[in-house]
Amino acid sequence: MTPLALDIPAIRRQFPILSQSIDGHPLIYLDNAATTQKPRAVLDAMTHFYETANANPHRGLYALADRATQAYEDARGRVAAFINAARREEIVFTKSATESINLVAKSWGRTLEPGDVIALPVTEHHSNIVPWLQLKEEKGIELTWIDVDEKGRVNLSQLEKMLEEKSMKLLALSALSNVLGTAPPLEKIISIAHRMGCLVLIDAAQAVAHHPIDVRALDADFLAFSSHKLYGPTGIGVLWGREHLLDAMPPVLGGGMMIDEVHRDRFTFADIPMRFEGGTPPVAEAVGLKASIDWLTQFPWKDIEAHERALLERAQRELSEIPGLSIVGGKTAERSGSLSFTLAGIHPHDLAELLGRRGICVRAGHHCTQPLHKYFAVPASTRLSVAIYNTEEEVLTLSSSIRDIQPSLR
Ligand SMILES: Cc1ncc(COP(=O)(O)O)c(C=O)c1O
Repeated sequence: MTPLALDIPAIRRQFPILSQSIDGHPLIYLDNAATTQKPRAVLDAMTHFYETANANPHRGLYALADRATQAYEDARGRVAAFINAARREEIVFTKSATESINLVAKSWGRTLEPGDVIALPVTEHHSNIVPWLQLKEEKGIELTWIDVDEKGRVNLSQLEKMLEEKSMKLLALSALSNVLGTAPPLEKIISIAHRMGCLVLIDAAQAVAHHPIDVRALDADFLAFSSHKLYGPTGIGVLWGREHLLDAMPPVLGGGMMIDEVHRDRFTFADIPMRFEGGTPPVAEAVGLKASIDWLTQFPWKDIEAHERALLERAQRELSEIPGLSIVGGKTAERSGSLSFTLAGIHPHDLAELLGRRGICVRAGHHCTQPLHKYFAVPASTRLSVAIYNTEEEVLTLSSSIRDIQPSLR
């Protein structure tokens, strides 16, 4: 049952999009791992910015430009506090988690030598695979893969052995799988990696809306996430990095904002974080991201976690009773965020399309995790992913709709 600590109907009323119907069916949005919906507080904050403060930040010498600069830098400070960064300068605004990881690969990665090793668990999203594959092509580094067990748990003894045997420079892994909904023991993994002098990049794209993140308690080196999976707008992401690591990294995008001096034959670049923020930044989006953090953090994390865990436990119970349905990674009490499944003899695309006609939004395919799907020998799956505004009734409607649809697809 949904704990009484969160007033879910009142929370839902703050999301204008959720009150609509699709072809006469109430909208049931269960694709939150792809992107979350936005509360009125975020929409209003962005509109207010455009109506009262819009200007190019860090450039103008007039009141509006000051307001825009203040708004942009306030957002940076808010993000720093949200993840407990030591300094606001450690927060780099990017376009997305994808761009944040690419920035590390394309800047920090330049220092790597042929034969240096980067390790990834097989569960990673393509955003945390392809930038490293590109680096492999460009620099001749070695990419090595860490196995997981049938529940998606990282093989720690294999990781320790790899760290002892190879000159591992970076371990890049997600804090929460976007398919399995399982989380690796990050603190333990980071301490093992650090003992062997290996840096750790955390892809927090999924974790950020479901669990608190404290980069100093984790002792991580880099961390990436996107605002749009955190009830904030699209178009802005965050890269956090330890100050001394960012400080040693060259810029990737050249242009305005990121320079110190420009001459006909050379340029010098700015300090962090501006060094990485070439061009006009996403100011309204930063305002929206700050509003999303302010909005979400009014609720205690333990209540969010309990509510979402209850939803996924109910989903596991209901779905696993459907004949032919198999949960990728099996049933587990430790799941959060996402749950993926297959239905014997039915293609996930067909199922998702018919569910969509009933107003139910789920994701079907490989969810940008082809190596994971190959590893589990599943060509594709259907995924439901929950957020703070989802209800047990929605989960029950999903499961009864699958039962209804199933005979017509056989
Ligand atoms: C685990 C994980 N990492 C990275 C990403 C990439 O996020 P974005 O598309 O916002 O850059 C996603 C998106 O689904 C994800 O689930």
